[in-house]
This record gives sequence, structure tokens and C-alpha cells, in this order.
Amino acid sequence: MIIAMGSDHVGFEMKNELKTYLEGKGHKVTDLGAHSEERTDYPVYGKAVAKAVTGGEADCGILVCGTGVGISIAANKTWGVRAVVCSEPYSAMLSKQHNNTNVLAIGARVIGIELAKMIADAWLGAEFEGGRHLDRVNMLE
Ligand code: RB5
Repeated sequence: MIIAMGSDHVGFEMKNELKTYLEGKGHKVTDLGAHSEERTDYPVYGKAVAKAVTGGEADCGILVCGTGVGISIAANKTWGVRAVVCSEPYSAMLSKQHNNTNVLAIGARVIGIELAKMIADAWLGAEFEGGRHLDRVNMLE
């Protein structure tokens, strides 16, 4: 998969660790920043990843900020993005199976890297089930 990744300064370290982990699993990661821990603004990166996903340059997106909240709100402002904040794998999996989420957001101040990896694995490994769920997802648009 081609995964667009983004973070603010708070999520910078976790984004990099996740990037290394996912590349090790054979994914291609497009890193849209931030590229340092210098203070910056999460809406910039939420939007950049959202545009990469809706523009077809990436299959999906993964975002990291302090809580995952601000950066997911930013991503969800782009039409066609369904971003979810997750702190555990179950919701991550169901968000793909039922809601066809295309962007995953994680809070670097909320969970640790090992749980973040499990969440990313659960999300990337799940498939949208379609059927009645497709009707509902279409209603969102
Ligand atoms: C930055 O201080 C912090 O607000 C940001 O990383 C994120 O948690 C926002 O939702």
C-alpha cells in the first residue's frame, strides 16, 4: 500500500517510528511532514494527507498529533475523507469494516508506540464489508 503520513511537532517522533515500522512491512510511505520537532500546526498536515488520499496519490493516510483529535478534524474537512481517531485496535478494525475509513489518526500523548503499531496493523489489515454499510457510508457523502 502507499500510505501518506503526517504529524505535527508532537506526533513527529511517533510518525517516524510508525513510518519505519510500516516500511519494514513492505508499505511505501509518503512522508508529508512535519520534518522536525519545531512547533507547527496540525491543520497543515491533516489537510496535506487528506489531499493525497482523495487525490489518489496514496491509498490511505495515517496522522499523528498529541491526541489525534485536531489532526483528524482537519483531515475530515476534505470531502471524501473519513478519518478516525483510535486508541485501541478494535475500533480501528471496525472503522474500516463498517465505515470504510481512509485516514487513521493516533495520539502520541495518549498511547505508546507498540499499541500504535497494533492499531495500524489492525486498521491496514481490515477490509470494508460493503453491503448495508455501503449504504450508510454513501449517506455520509
Ligand atoms: C499541540 O499542542 C496539540 O494541540 C496537538 O498536537 C493536538 O493534540 C491537537 O489536537
